[in-house]
Amino acid sequence: MDETHFISSTTNSPVPLTTRWEAPSNIALVKYWGKTDPQLPKNSSLSFTLSSSVTTTEVEFKANNKKTFEFEFYFEGVLKPDFHPKLNSFFKRIHHYIPWIALYSLKINSHNSFPHSSGIASSASAMAALSMCIMDMEKTLFPETTAAEFYRKASFLARLGSGSAARSIEGPVTLWGKNTPQESSSDLYASSFGNQLHSVFTAYQDTILLVDKGSKAVSSTQGHQLMHNHPFAEQRFVQAETNLERLLVVMQSGNLDEFISIVETEALSLHAMMMTSNPYFILMQPNTLKIIQKVWDFRKQTQIPLCFTLDAGANVHLLYPQSNKKEVRTFIADHLAVYCEQGQYLFDEVGSGAKKV
Ligand code: PMV
Repeated sequence: MDETHFISSTTNSPVPLTTRWEAPSNIALVKYWGKTDPQLPKNSSLSFTLSSSVTTTEVEFKANNKKTFEFEFYFEGVLKPDFHPKLNSFFKRIHHYIPWIALYSLKINSHNSFPHSSGIASSASAMAALSMCIMDMEKTLFPETTAAEFYRKASFLARLGSGSAARSIEGPVTLWGKNTPQESSSDLYASSFGNQLHSVFTAYQDTILLVDKGSKAVSSTQGHQLMHNHPFAEQRFVQAETNLERLLVVMQSGNLDEFISIVETEALSLHAMMMTSNPYFILMQPNTLKIIQKVWDFRKQTQIPLCFTLDAGANVHLLYPQSNKKEVRTFIADHLAVYCEQGQYLFDEVGSGAKKV
């Protein structure tokens, strides 16, 4: 299936519609870091879809008499023209695939369930929620669209807004990238891991320790860019594919020792790429490392399969089975909260994907 598959027809008569969707954030276990235009990954990735960290977006589609597409964007009820450049380039990219949009003016209203400055990237959930609203309109115009086509194209559109957003449409585990052993996999969109997931992962916990709530010194856009001409890029892409193959086995077997080994390797490899870029940079903070050491000590002492992963930032995601919730949460409150900005952390867990609200 190539890009042309995603081009829909035009229509002559616009249909007014207001629709509202909620889409979750996701946390990559095998990391996507490095891409080519337009937002195509250099390696495959796999993530847990989250449940509580969500963006809710309402889109009002109104007929546009001027016949040139336009939009207004509100965040938490406030008009935000500063978001226009990013949204403009998103709409420019997707216009070709949804030509009917030229007949509309959009009023977009968005809000996040997580605190605005928490250091949690909201682009994945935001682009996924907006793409679901767009697909709802497409389904209204073309009712013959099947559920499979609907979700696939929503992921395709979300990817063009922010790569990792492709993985925020479905749950509980999604895969993005064509080199995976899964036949249905693609660079163009993400798909759900399917029904062979081991039961330990269906309610896996993710507690996000907010080590640094400020904005990052180096954006992920710049980070991806630095993978071009990176001395270790090719080895990294091979490593990610190997880790993904191993993780696909673990997702079915539920082998948590192997899970921990892959997930922590991936987190540290992502940050190793940052530290060896030209120019180099470090997004971890001293407290990130203190937490990692405490997690290792706790795991050694208790044999509880608690592990960590990192995004492109200083915050730490702690991953653990639901059956260990009580002991891990006590440990976090007593020993890790002290390393978080204002003692803040967020409880989340694996979720089922975007939904209409
Ligand atoms: O989707 P982007 O361009 O913000 O990149 C995301 C990169 C990581 O979060 C670091 C890894 C990933 O796979 O989500």
